[in-house]
Amino acid sequence: MFGRKKKEQDFHVDDRLRSLAIIMDGNGRWAKKRMLPRSAGHAAGAARIEPVLETLRRIGVHHVTLYAFSTENWKRPREEVDAIMDLVYKYLDEVVIEKIKRDDTFSMKFLGDKSVLSEKLRNKCIEVENMAADREFVCNVALNYGGRDEIVHAVNSAIADGITTLTEEDISSRLYTSHSPDPDLIIRTGGEFRVSNFLLWQSAYSEYVILDTLWPDFGDKEIMKAVRAFYGRRRRFGGLNKEETLKK
Ligand code: IPE
Ligand code: IPE
Ligand code: MG
Repeated sequence: MFGRKKKEQDFHVDDRLRSLAIIMDGNGRWAKKRMLPRSAGHAAGAARIEPVLETLRRIGVHHVTLYAFSTENWKRPREEVDAIMDLVYKYLDEVVIEKIKRDDTFSMKFLGDKSVLSEKLRNKCIEVENMAADREFVCNVALNYGGRDEIVHAVNSAIADGITTLTEEDISSRLYTSHSPDPDLIIRTGGEFRVSNFLLWQSAYSEYVILDTLWPDFGDKEIMKAVRAFYGRRRRFGGLNKEETLKK
């Protein structure tokens, strides 16, 4: 037991896994199981973020993208939306700002249209982004994020720049994620096999790992499970593996 724990402590990813994204799903079900309000599930979910980021950084991941709130999540009851937004504000103000001050390798960016957020939250997001740029570890938080919205936004920006025939690069460079590589691995907690409008463009060749674990229960054990599954995959990017080419 000790041996295995020790081995996991020393585990490091390589260049195949520098960018990882997580669809943090299952907060509501976690709360329901405990007969708590959904907002308690979101609070428990928020508490998992920092320890998960720390483990991912320790094992050598440099870019982590977290799905916090989608463009469709506004359809939820006002009370729940307000609770999530208050929680995000509090988390940035109390946890993230301190972390950025303490740790000069950590930075945070937000993906999504900030203009519909409350002025208070928008200013907090901008403050957090401006505190640290181009650091070794980047945490992207998808907030009011939708993959379709992001592509439309990128195309409109290209049109505004006078481009009439688009290349892939014209789009990629205008996405909210233009500063981060496409995710090698996308983990979805909560067991649903769907994309829910997350990183539609960037996930063209990402490996997906779906775990039944609900987000507030997600920890080091689940990270290692997902990472092991990732290393068991044979990524081909539409081509053939070396052995397959040799067989020919
Ligand atoms: C994910 O948890 C968090 C957000 C979408 C904000 P959910 O709130 O979707 O939890 P479930 O899927 O209902 O359990
Ligand atoms: C995806 O979860 C969005 C986030 C985790 C922020 P949802 O709970 O919104 O997805 P659906 O509605 O089950 O597809
Ligand atoms: Mg959900």
